[in-house]
Amino acid sequence: MKEADKKEIESLRKTIHVHDHHYYVKNSPSISDREYDSLYHRLKELESKYPQWVTPDSPTQRVGGKVEQRFRQITHPTPMLSLDNTYNVDEVRAFHKRIIKGLPDVAEDSIEYIVELKFDGLAVALTYEDGRLVCGTTRGDGKQGEDITANLKTIRSIPLEISSEPFKKIEVRGEVYMPIKEFQRLNAIRETKGESPFANPRNAAAGALRVLDPSITDSRKLGIFIYTVGFMDNNVCKTHFELQQILASLRFPINEHNRLCSNFEETIAVIEEWRQKKNNLDYEVDGLVIQLNSLAYRKKLGNTSKFPRWAVAYKYEAEQVETEILEIVCQVGRTGSITPVAYLEPVFVSGSTVSRATLHNEDEIKRKDIRVGDRVVIEKAGEIIPKVVRLVDPKAKRKAPFKMPTVCPECQMKIFRPEGEAAWRCINATCPAQLKERLKHFASRNAMDIDNMGPAVIAQLVESGRVKNFSDLYTLKQDEVASLERLAEKSAQNLIDAIEKSKSAGLARLLFGLGVRHVGQRAASILAETFRSIENLRTTPYEDIESVIEIGPVIAESLKSFFDQKTNLQDIENLSNMGVLVEEQGEARKEGVLIGKQFVLTGTLSNISRNEAKQKIESLGGRVTSSVSGKTDFLVAGKDAGSKLAKAKALKITVLDEKELQKIIGSV
Ligand code: IVH
Repeated sequence: MKEADKKEIESLRKTIHVHDHHYYVKNSPSISDREYDSLYHRLKELESKYPQWVTPDSPTQRVGGKVEQRFRQITHPTPMLSLDNTYNVDEVRAFHKRIIKGLPDVAEDSIEYIVELKFDGLAVALTYEDGRLVCGTTRGDGKQGEDITANLKTIRSIPLEISSEPFKKIEVRGEVYMPIKEFQRLNAIRETKGESPFANPRNAAAGALRVLDPSITDSRKLGIFIYTVGFMDNNVCKTHFELQQILASLRFPINEHNRLCSNFEETIAVIEEWRQKKNNLDYEVDGLVIQLNSLAYRKKLGNTSKFPRWAVAYKYEAEQVETEILEIVCQVGRTGSITPVAYLEPVFVSGSTVSRATLHNEDEIKRKDIRVGDRVVIEKAGEIIPKVVRLVDPKAKRKAPFKMPTVCPECQMKIFRPEGEAAWRCINATCPAQLKERLKHFASRNAMDIDNMGPAVIAQLVESGRVKNFSDLYTLKQDEVASLERLAEKSAQNLIDAIEKSKSAGLARLLFGLGVRHVGQRAASILAETFRSIENLRTTPYEDIESVIEIGPVIAESLKSFFDQKTNLQDIENLSNMGVLVEEQGEARKEGVLIGKQFVLTGTLSNISRNEAKQKIESLGGRVTSSVSGKTDFLVAGKDAGSKLAKAKALKITVLDEKELQKIIGSV
């Protein structure tokens, strides 16, 4: 009966794939959940009897694949470009004019466009070989992405197998998104656990995709729309529209609102049509993508290094809504700066409910004359925190103007507004509000990444006096943590484990987490790479830190005053004694040789590509820029060097030929 079972397995798989497609892509289930479950269980039963017949594309294998410790880097078959943005109809018209100019032999009225929604998610690429999904990657830097196949397989609308006709090999591209409802559900859960909520569905989706445990991705209920092809081994069609129809017939989820426009004016009508309508969708859309339909015309126009010339994004302005200011509260940041925040009557705007808006600083409140009780217009400008745009009716009867407090709302010490600065500051180094913020930052995802250490936990640790600095975190015991309010026993253990794990976060994360003013993520990773230990950074003379490219005097100054404080040094020593890594691990780069040196490459190099030369220079700590200026240290002049060479000579910049460059970088 073995053969019959094998046949049944194959048929069950096919049937389940078809039902998945109806359920997750077409949103119209073809059988009841119960019937579906019974098919699924039958397949599971047979597969456990014959484990040798379990294939990676079986519907039972969506969750449970393995992700390697670090995601593998995969080079895309063709670069994943981004799109040039336009913000008004005139710019879209200018785009159309460029198209007409670039296609002189084509009659304007025969130019068709496809207009699609621009989904606000994450671009991914999926490769199918002989009908099987073999690889799924992120966009990465556009040239190389990360292998997240196991995570992508958990997205039910991604087919694990497709017909191997007409393509033996195809790479499709699309956008993974988190439905707004799912985003709200997830954030509600996070808040009850005392974890900081995700800022928007996009961030939540990104977090879900780049985890090492696919069951987490699976629990986040992501969706995907496929919008294009990066590679196909069979040119079966002439237009994007036809291509998408073929993709749909292969069971890829293609967005139902894609619109074929037979002339340019129709695209403008579609822009107007979606201005409002986009807010009624179950996913976030930040604009439209307008692109040529003809694949031949696309080829003719080609790409710039960043964008295709045949497509453009139209971005809608931020959505604005009215609400009321209930209260103005001053919050203390981790550096002691005091920011006034408006508490709002909750309103739904651009995909989420907001109840707070930043008012930036005292001057801003005065300028806009914002007072408690006012009705105001707010908007979410691109990211996270909404802002108050203006009063709805400046002539309405109003309460008294807002007055900044004179003491810190948290520690009651007198606050100051330094000359030339916009913010008032609390300069009490032991102010608990600052400490809470510093700890939040230290534990945040891009810093030490301590899961489960949300604001509620931090508040209790600080208010009880148990945690006074970063190193105190590493002395916490399981039973102490378990006795905190709102923390279940399991989460207590998870928190202890996460604290332990963070010890090996590495120097860059630690430097960022310490919250030195002006040291952002990028600066932290440059500093870690260059100086390789906190001790080395501390003892390096100011001038040497300042001269590192992208560091400069502001960061160097800030580091100096950080290390000047004994309490900071003591905290770092304690961290190190507890086993927190304060040094870079592994081989040092042959760094140093070119630190602080700026190069410009021009003309044609014969033995090395410009890109390779750039990479080598950068691997030695140098930097390559595109234009010659007073800051340039070396101009590398290849064959037929032109105006850049002339400018470098005029500025008396050292000019190297290819051989001289090789001498410097050759040994790398
Ligand atoms: S087409 C050559 N279509 O927008 C690029 N992109 O700024 C072709 N995006 O990286 C892209 N929705 O992540 C295209 N319907 C859509 C899209 C879309 C969202 C994203 C995509 C891309 C970015 C470009």
